[in-house]
Amino acid sequence: MTASQLREETIFTWGAPPLKFGAGSTDEIGFDLAGFGVHRVLIVTDPGVSALGAPSRIADALKRYDIEAEIFDGVHVEPTDDSMNKAVEYARAQGDWDGFVAVGGGSAIDTAKAINLLTTYPGELMDYINKPIGNAKTPPGQLKPLVAVPTTAGTGSESTAMCVLDILSMKVKTGISHWRLRPTLAVVDPLLTMSLPPEVTAASGMDIVCHAVESYTARWYTSFDRKKPEERVTYCGSNPVSDLWCEKAMALIARSLRPAVHRGADGDDGAVDARTDMMLAATLAGMGFGNSGVHIPHANGYPIAGMVRDYRPAGYPQDEPMVPHGQSVSLTAPETFRFTFDADPGRHLRAAELLDPRADRTDDPREQLPSVLTALMRDIGIPNGIGGVGYSEADVPDLVPGTMKQQRLLATCPKTPTEDDIADILTKSVENW
Ligand SMILES: NC(=O)c1ccc[n+]([C@@H]2O[C@H](COP(=O)([O-])OP(=O)(O)OC[C@H]3O[C@@H](n4cnc5c(N)ncnc54)[C@H](O)[C@@H]3O)[C@@H](O)[C@H]2O)c1
Ligand SMILES: [Zn+2]
Repeated sequence: MTASQLREETIFTWGAPPLKFGAGSTDEIGFDLAGFGVHRVLIVTDPGVSALGAPSRIADALKRYDIEAEIFDGVHVEPTDDSMNKAVEYARAQGDWDGFVAVGGGSAIDTAKAINLLTTYPGELMDYINKPIGNAKTPPGQLKPLVAVPTTAGTGSESTAMCVLDILSMKVKTGISHWRLRPTLAVVDPLLTMSLPPEVTAASGMDIVCHAVESYTARWYTSFDRKKPEERVTYCGSNPVSDLWCEKAMALIARSLRPAVHRGADGDDGAVDARTDMMLAATLAGMGFGNSGVHIPHANGYPIAGMVRDYRPAGYPQDEPMVPHGQSVSLTAPETFRFTFDADPGRHLRAAELLDPRADRTDDPREQLPSVLTALMRDIGIPNGIGGVGYSEADVPDLVPGTMKQQRLLATCPKTPTEDDIADILTKSVENW
């Protein structure tokens, strides 16, 4: 038999940028960027991170390598089509850039990915955004060098091929997803996260948890129909390589998420170690889910964040209502894993064991992972269900279509959910404890 006669998938793909990890790695960016032969770079950040000083320290370090650096600090926390368009307009108006440095959380890194794409090639955001919302056009060629420097321990955006944004007119979150968007180099310095408020540490920490567990429980790659090379997508289902990253990420979370939230400030005993573990967990989970994929909790997170009414979380900018990404994706996770349990009980139990090796055994094995997750969420101050961020059972019919639009994510779920299944999961997630 030749491979072309096979109907089932036999191939998985895995990719990630080169990584420079560790305390002080930010100080070496000038050297690293000089190696790419760049002379004029734009540093992309948000106002909160800019005020902490890291972007200007990086700009100074670049000058020592004769690299001209300008700072754009207009990134919107949880970017929108409007904020990304403004950022692209700014970058286009300021002339030719031959590289980019993103300094911040997922918001800054994703905005830098969009700037890189749309200053390297003509066109509009909608040309590239995933179907059915955009036209899912393929980036025509290679992008400029982008060095991603995360300042939160969460999204893993420094290693993923995704760029996530809110489409304001449709009240829906979606993104651009193509391997060419992947940063050229990830520089991950745990010291940058010492200033994270506990609320951001907790929410972005739950983002890591969801990346790792969703990816670990995603459909196995061979269960998909065989694809042609040009049809291969960035999310190919769980596979032996991404499993390794996710397992390791869960073990680090077990040890360090609670301490990072409660004792993660400068001067706290063990704070640097906890922050280092969390940064490594974020990076490892990014290398996992960025290839295998996430499913229902992330698909639900998009309408939960997109349709927010008046919830304003502590620790985040207060000028407008928002449900931070890490909160939005974790609120329906316990109920989702009750729903997906039958697809692979062993993986659900293994995830629970990795996330909390000391947890008491529940009588019903289906409850083990939800119980570990809710105990963690309670301990670190995550809101209690979608009710905790302003939704009630009456909102469920309005949330369901937003989830069903995330077909790219639902396709990786180990059990294909119907609209009724999603409605049931959302309803049972109004309160998680
Ligand atoms: N591209 C991907 O693969 C991917 C994956 C998951 C999430 N996301 C997206 O990433 C965004 C969320 O990113 P995030 O959770 O990293 O947070 P963020 O970038 O939105 O930042 C959250 C807040 O923390 C502040 N902050 C960041 N670093 C800080 C520091 N070191 N000290 C003090 N304050 C700091 C910011 O100023 C901001 O107010 C969402 O838009 C989400 O959809 C992208
Ligand atoms: Zn996420």
